[in-house]
Amino acid sequence: PLRQRLLVVANRLPVSAVRRGEDSWSLEISAGGLVTALLGVKEFEAKWIGWAGVNVPDEAGQKALTEALAEKRCIPVFLDEEIVHQYYNGYCNNILWPLFHYLGLPQEDRLATTRSFQSQFAAYKKANQMFADVVNQHYEEGDVVWCHDYHLMYLPKCLKEYNNNMKVGWFLHTPFPSSEIHRTLPSRSDLLRSVLAADLVGFHTYDYARHFVSACTRILGLEGTPEGVEDQGRLTRVAAHEQIRFYSCYTNHALSSSCNQFPIGIDSDRFISALELPKVQEHIKELKERFAGRKVMLGVDRLDMIKGIPQKILAFEKFLEENPVWRDKVVLLQIAVPTRTDVPECMISNTLDTSYVVPYAETIYATKEKVSMEILTSGLTTRVSSSLQLALKRKMRNVNMKAGSQLLSMPSYHNYMRLLPIANQKLTSQVHEIVGRINGRFGTLTAVPIHHLDRSLDFPALCALYAVTDVALVTSLRDGMNLVSYEFVACQDSKKGVLILSEFAGAAQSLGAGAILVNPWNITEVADSIRQALTMSPEEREKRHRHNFVHVTTHTAQEWAETFVSELDDTVIEAQLRT
Ligand code: UDP
Ligand code: G6P
Repeated sequence: PLRQRLLVVANRLPVSAVRRGEDSWSLEISAGGLVTALLGVKEFEAKWIGWAGVNVPDEAGQKALTEALAEKRCIPVFLDEEIVHQYYNGYCNNILWPLFHYLGLPQEDRLATTRSFQSQFAAYKKANQMFADVVNQHYEEGDVVWCHDYHLMYLPKCLKEYNNNMKVGWFLHTPFPSSEIHRTLPSRSDLLRSVLAADLVGFHTYDYARHFVSACTRILGLEGTPEGVEDQGRLTRVAAHEQIRFYSCYTNHALSSSCNQFPIGIDSDRFISALELPKVQEHIKELKERFAGRKVMLGVDRLDMIKGIPQKILAFEKFLEENPVWRDKVVLLQIAVPTRTDVPECMISNTLDTSYVVPYAETIYATKEKVSMEILTSGLTTRVSSSLQLALKRKMRNVNMKAGSQLLSMPSYHNYMRLLPIANQKLTSQVHEIVGRINGRFGTLTAVPIHHLDRSLDFPALCALYAVTDVALVTSLRDGMNLVSYEFVACQDSKKGVLILSEFAGAAQSLGAGAILVNPWNITEVADSIRQALTMSPEEREKRHRHNFVHVTTHTAQEWAETFVSELDDTVIEAQLRT
């Protein structure tokens, strides 16, 4: 049989491009749960449409990149720097992301965001229209168009305006917040209405779906039905991740059960079979030798506010404080993958610090773009300190920089200057400070209790780490699903380690019976769970692991996609029958 053709549309393509020369590009796998889930979708004739993560101002570069991406069945949407700034850094990641994760903005940024809101929302709509244009160019009759995530809430409407017969689905990879939160958004109705243009709308959990439906009923005054949301006889189906059970966070006991349709997951076989690869085995051996005699605890997160990394490390400190016998018998490895390092304009600072400008300078040097000495951005000029200039000079030998010259420079470079990574920088230095304190306090001349890495790992290294871990710690303050917890479980069939999991991650609803659920804000509770996990009997570990392993290996990304697409087909057929 012919395989169903699928156009997968997401802001982030599964590969991100790095420019190597005028017309040469290298492609690297992108990080994040959305990409992981979508990489597990195989049994379709799928093409991907999205942003390759780089600015490509020249036609030659665009052509070469389009060709390189075509080999991966990817189609680029080219977004210029201004759009990326306003749409991606601004509206998506400074407005929607914190709001959907129930994180407020710092007070001083609130007004600035309020002022720039309209222009950012305009850029968001414009960017969504650009995605729609590319979809429209590549759409063939019979294709299913599957839109993803908070970046593309305006897309279903744009697509239906092009062609009302297009089968359009939209899936959200983050939480959808309570309608009380959503109603504070100035663009609250526009966003809901455009999502409702889709035929089928999917969420990770039943709670997120319920929040969405109540936002539609309260804000738009539409009717919520068991099937979804109805507007003048037209139904948008709303469905959620299978909520197998709801677990009490106090007792880990199941409280109730209900059943919906779309359990997202990972390609569990990819992880399980990777463990046999010589490269991974080699890593495993090294890690075992390196940490012999100590239990290994692991955290793997993008360095994002929502992941609760400081909370996790503070809880670990408390555990060491209260359990002196464990101090030289346990180590915490925290991988913090850099992410969204450009923050919005409201966070412009006029003090520059070499520690984060210099690493970027290297990237700029690699692109061999000419640095211009004086460029103004948003009316703000930044004077570069002499130490920064020296450091930059060392990195960019061909740049002739005069002392005291004003700088906010050429396109990609100027982005880094203008959009100082204040939010993540603050988080990074906060985390570094706590780690330093704890290592100083509990370390010895030969060993420290925390190894913190600010970088990503390749797939073999990541699998090996998962496999040697005794206790994984996921302390997200909010998290749509959290696939790291799934990956850990997939790699633990011989070790049967323990998962400590935040009750605020979507995964708490699927892995809750096997994990120890915690409130990450309560560090006493997390510290107690660490002790409980490290001293758990093999029988109990086996029982808990078995539950989660069965879930992870039976609820795969492929099945998630198949159910979503067939449900979308059914929805469209039912709608046709009704008219
Ligand atoms: N990951 C990665 N590089 C790393 C570490 C992790 O690509 O160095 C992946 C990890 O394997 C996982 C994803 O990033 O698939 C994170 O997904 P998750 O759902 O846990 O959180 P998100 O980043 O989407 O918020
Ligand atoms: C989360 C979002 C994804 C996003 C990923 C990585 O998982 O739901 O849409 O791709 O984070 O973030 P980035 O901004 O680098 O794409």
